[in-house]
Amino acid sequence: MRSWQFHEFGQIDKLQMEDVDIPTPTGDEVLVKMKYAGLNPADKFLIMGLYQGCAEPSYSVGRDGCCEVIQTPEGSKFKAGDLVITPSATVGINRDGTLAEYLSLPEDHFALLPSWWSPEEGAAGTKVFLTCWQALSDAAHLQPDETVLVTGASGGIGLAALAIAKEMGATTIAVSRGVKKAAQLKKLGADCVLDTEDPDIVANVKELGGADVILDIVGGDFLSKCIDMANPYGRICIIGALAGINCEISPVGIIFKRLQIHGMQVSMYKADESQRSLKELLAVLEPNKVALKIDKIFPFEEVQEAFEYMRYGPLGKVLIGPIDE
Ligand SMILES: NC(=O)c1ccc[n+]([C@@H]2O[C@H](COP(=O)([O-])OP(=O)(O)OC[C@H]3O[C@@H](n4cnc5c(N)ncnc54)[C@H](OP(=O)(O)O)[C@@H]3O)[C@@H](O)[C@H]2O)c1
Repeated sequence: MRSWQFHEFGQIDKLQMEDVDIPTPTGDEVLVKMKYAGLNPADKFLIMGLYQGCAEPSYSVGRDGCCEVIQTPEGSKFKAGDLVITPSATVGINRDGTLAEYLSLPEDHFALLPSWWSPEEGAAGTKVFLTCWQALSDAAHLQPDETVLVTGASGGIGLAALAIAKEMGATTIAVSRGVKKAAQLKKLGADCVLDTEDPDIVANVKELGGADVILDIVGGDFLSKCIDMANPYGRICIIGALAGINCEISPVGIIFKRLQIHGMQVSMYKADESQRSLKELLAVLEPNKVALKIDKIFPFEEVQEAFEYMRYGPLGKVLIGPIDE
């Protein structure tokens, strides 16, 4: 089968398409044929050796996917032909990922594709929706009358956070570079859109009533602004640090506003916790059949081009597929 493998940490060109054996399922593993794989910035960080806790290469990356079940263990809850998604965290981090034609994983690493998601939406939404659900629900305990501020709003995390926050009844502030995408972000759940680079962003957020919950993927110096824009008893969930890993923050604002700062890491949830989290998330998304917006789908041969495209800030997810053609 064809699989995108890397053998040593380095730049993204270390990832190369190779011919490898189709995996043989052992124990409680289910063999699936990949239909679509979703790309995440963390795949690239992992290849660069910047992802803490990942396995030493060689393996294939890719943590999101929609796949067709080919072979099941005895007594499995799945049957051949079922379409499944990959909510569990270790795929593409500590074992082979979804950028391959076939994948074999323990049964509890899969869940049935939700009825209202297409296979493409299944590959797009699972991990970012789960991350944002764990941030908004498990960490921040978001309440319906609260305001959620989301940075990097046009990316996978940003759009997933806006969608869930709206379903939970919250008011939303989207922060995006340049606000070029403001009109589309408003259609996708933003009540208001602000510019990441706006020098008056803290005052502008305060004028809107401040933020009770902040999901930040920008990091760097923006983190200190998050502390300034948070309301008393606010919760800041740090999900990414695309603008930099170093920042200077003062403890004073955290102390006097009794802020809670949460580090989020979706891959720390064990398989059973991911399944629980997915069930809760889908109960929130189902009434309005919410799915994640897809920006562009690249052919399986063009994984490198797809990663390059992601650098320019798409509006929604970037996918690979159909892989099984
Ligand atoms: N902790 C976890 O468990 C977890 C889970 C999933 C993802 N993540 C991390 O969260 C981050 C975002 O993931 P994603 O899936 O949303 O990525 P994405 O789909 O590539 O979107 C990232 C968005 O961030 C903004 N952005 C990009 N580079 C930026 C920069 N240098 N400064 C400021 N804004 C920038 C852009 O939005 P605008 O143009 O709208 O500003 C871009 O669309 C990544 O670092 C990823 O690794 C963490």
